[in-house]
Amino acid sequence: MQLLALHGPNLNLLGTREPGLYGSSSLEQINAELRSRATQLGASVDCFQSNHEGALVDRIHLGRGAVDGILINAGAYTHTSIAIRDALLAVEIPYVELHLSNTHAREPFRHHSTLADRAVGVICGFGATSYQLALEGLVQHLRRAAGR
Ligand code: DQA
Repeated sequence: MQLLALHGPNLNLLGTREPGLYGSSSLEQINAELRSRATQLGASVDCFQSNHEGALVDRIHLGRGAVDGILINAGAYTHTSIAIRDALLAVEIPYVELHLSNTHAREPFRHHSTLADRAVGVICGFGATSYQLALEGLVQHLRRAAGR
C-alpha cells in the first residue's frame, strides 16, 4: 500500500510556528512518525510539503496510478483552493483531510473546507496525533475497499 502525505503552506515551520496552537513537533518529526507507523501497518508513505498551490497540484497528479491513498493537510489552501480539490478528484485517489488544530473552533473563515465533502474522512484538533489518526483511518478504509 503506497500512501502520500501532503503538507501545505507554512507547515514547514511546525515546531516554531505558533506552538500554542500547532504544538512543538517539527514536520520532520511528524513525517518520521508517519513513516514508522505506516511500516507497522504494512504501508509506505511519501511525504511532500510545499508553500505553493501549483506544486501541490503537480504532486497530486504524479500520484495517479502510483498512490493508493493521500493524507492531506492543505493548511490555508484548505479554505480557498478549488485547484487542489479538482486535482484530488481528477486523480481519483481516496484522501483524508486533516488539521492539527480544530478549525471549527477558530475564525469563521477556517470553518469552510473545499476538500471535506469528498474526503473519506476529516480529522482535526489532535495536534500531531491528527496525522496518526488520519493514517489509521485511511489504511483501514483502503483495506476494506480492497476486501482485505
Ligand atoms: C491548519 C489549519 C489551517 O486553518 C491553517 O491555515 C494552517 C494549519 C492546521 O493544521 O490546523 O496552516 O491546517
